[in-house]
Amino acid sequence: MRMKKVLVVYYSQTGQLENVLKSFTSKLADEEIKVDMRPIKPKLKYPFPWPFYTFFDEFPEAVQLDGCEIEDLEELEEDYDLIILGYTVWYMAPSIPVTAFMQSVQAKQIFKNKPVVTVVACRDMWVLAQEKMKNMIDTVDARLIDHVALTDQSGSVLSLVTLPMWMFTGDKKFFSALPQAGITQENIDNCVRFGERLNSSLKEDKEKNTDAMLTNLGAVSVNAKLIATEKIANRSFQIWTQLIKWSGKKYSVGRKITITIYFVFLVLLLLTIVPLNILSRKILNIFQKEKLEAMEAKYELPSGK
Ligand SMILES: Cc1cc2nc3c(=O)[nH]c(=O)nc-3n(C[C@H](O)[C@H](O)[C@H](O)COP(=O)(O)O)c2cc1C
Repeated sequence: MRMKKVLVVYYSQTGQLENVLKSFTSKLADEEIKVDMRPIKPKLKYPFPWPFYTFFDEFPEAVQLDGCEIEDLEELEEDYDLIILGYTVWYMAPSIPVTAFMQSVQAKQIFKNKPVVTVVACRDMWVLAQEKMKNMIDTVDARLIDHVALTDQSGSVLSLVTLPMWMFTGDKKFFSALPQAGITQENIDNCVRFGERLNSSLKEDKEKNTDAMLTNLGAVSVNAKLIATEKIANRSFQIWTQLIKWSGKKYSVGRKITITIYFVFLVLLLLTIVPLNILSRKILNIFQKEKLEAMEAKYELPSGK
């Protein structure tokens, strides 16, 4: 029997997503299945911890899917049986290096007609990023067969504080009273189950079919209440990213001024409109239970809960 080949391509800045993928693939590789892990490398490294203005300076380019300069992936096989694409979310879009990769000539060659499993590890909001990723996967003529999403342990509200503090200071537990930022070690360790399933599925040639392979494993869990917030935020992102771009070149003083105004706007929004929105939605949701459940099921495809 021919050995099967799996490519894992990803960008992980702090190593969190990389650890997810290492755990994910730890029981995937064996004497019949070869796994190649290939990180995407931007030509200019992003800083970590992030200086405040640099973090926000990436906002327009992330949202508008501009990409950045990246190195070519090296030591690739000719013909992979399956591709695992790991990405994090930057401003509700796939991170800039992964966007750049998906727009590259190399991605067009590697992905053509291949089944793809997407793996997301982010704070909380990945639904619209995954919609953008689906378009990119279509553009390179690949087909999405499974999707796994892991999110931060501190939940939607507290992670609005813990995630930025981790990004700005490098400290996952900057506020001792709050939960640690990022995904729990337990959740990371439990990703082994996905690799185990893929191992047996590949041996039965299931990647050649259109059906998802990672069903009934808790691959994703969509919270419909967050989708509405994502959609509202995304609309305002279109306006603000354009304003920031108009104010000057990357890292210019002009951009810093607009970013400062945007930051104040964001904080005011978080303190006023967002709590009101949460409250009104809680009431509305009581009457829209079925609609919300249908929406969750739609965005949980292909792998489901
Ligand atoms: C510039 C930037 C923007 C981010 N925006 C989001 C976001 O919109 N939604 C989200 O859930 N996480 C967001 N995150 C968190 C990342 O998705 C991810 O959890 C974090 O960067 C750690 O991933 P890594 O170290 O594996 O690359 C953002 C991170 C960065 C650096």
